Amino acid sequence: MAGVEKPELVTAADEAALEVAFQARVDAETRIEPRDWMPEKYRKFMVRQISQHAHSEYVGMLPEGNWITRAPTLRRKAALLAKIQDEAGHAAYLYSAAETLGTSRDQMLEDLHSGKAKYSSIFNYPTLTWADIGTIGWLVDGAAIVNQVALCRTSYGPYARAMVRICKEESFHQRQGFEIITTLAHGAPEQKAMAQDALNRWWWPALMMFGPHDADSPNSEIAFKWKVKRQSNDDLRQRFVDMTVPQADYLGLTVPDPDLKWNGETGQYDFGAIDWEEFWRVVKGDGLCNRDRLDARRSAHEDGAWVREAALAHAAKKRATKSAA
Ligand SMILES: [Fe+2]
Ligand SMILES: [Fe+2]
Repeated sequence: MAGVEKPELVTAADEAALEVAFQARVDAETRIEPRDWMPEKYRKFMVRQISQHAHSEYVGMLPEGNWITRAPTLRRKAALLAKIQDEAGHAAYLYSAAETLGTSRDQMLEDLHSGKAKYSSIFNYPTLTWADIGTIGWLVDGAAIVNQVALCRTSYGPYARAMVRICKEESFHQRQGFEIITTLAHGAPEQKAMAQDALNRWWWPALMMFGPHDADSPNSEIAFKWKVKRQSNDDLRQRFVDMTVPQADYLGLTVPDPDLKWNGETGQYDFGAIDWEEFWRVVKGDGLCNRDRLDARRSAHEDGAWVREAALAHAAKKRATKSAA
């Protein structure tokens, strides 16, 4: 099916017809591309979602960056560096995808630095020990994969294509984390205790990564209609729990949830109630590291100003040489 192109003058009747054609494309599983007509609400929704996702990749480098100089071996350090660089790449693909919707990277970064834009709250928790690095790869990248595999079929073309590539790299991240935590869990009693302590601190925030219950998620309905989202927050969270609990069992670690138990009838794990008050508190800026993360982002941006200026000056010089030739 060809794209729906924007006519010169759009009346209200045209607009309604365009919206019907747009929804028909979405329903037929045809990807929406940057030049296609789209409802303004869809454009705004996608800018919000993709830029929040990009910011999460970007800020997500900070808790792990904290441990590059303290990685226990050269091999661990090389893997951690590669993983953090991948996250910068994920942010770059996603900022580019959002730019195809008519926003600019400068605007998105301004919104991040002013605190207007959100990013995943998981990155507002501190990384206290080396076991946290293993746990982040295992649980945080593991949860990201569950969320992001679903996004590979999202309706906006540039976002869906970026996600295919990102998911491949996330698998490596999850495995490097699981390898770190396996070594610790099978190591000395002190190492195992460190792994358990990290699991105790990261388990619940990892479950919160899937977002509020569907009934409390105001954007869910429209996200389903536009096929931005295909599975509910609760379904994805359940999948993550069912996937991760056997891994904890294999490691000999205990998931910090006294209500967790296998349910033979549903073929799934039942689990305890999430502390949504904590979730909203961190979302609203009162987590342990919210201020640190934003300060680090702002100063990295200011410190990098000379690089951006130099790159722009170089590009202008090249253009001038080209037009003079
Ligand atoms: Fe990532
Ligand atoms: Fe990752």
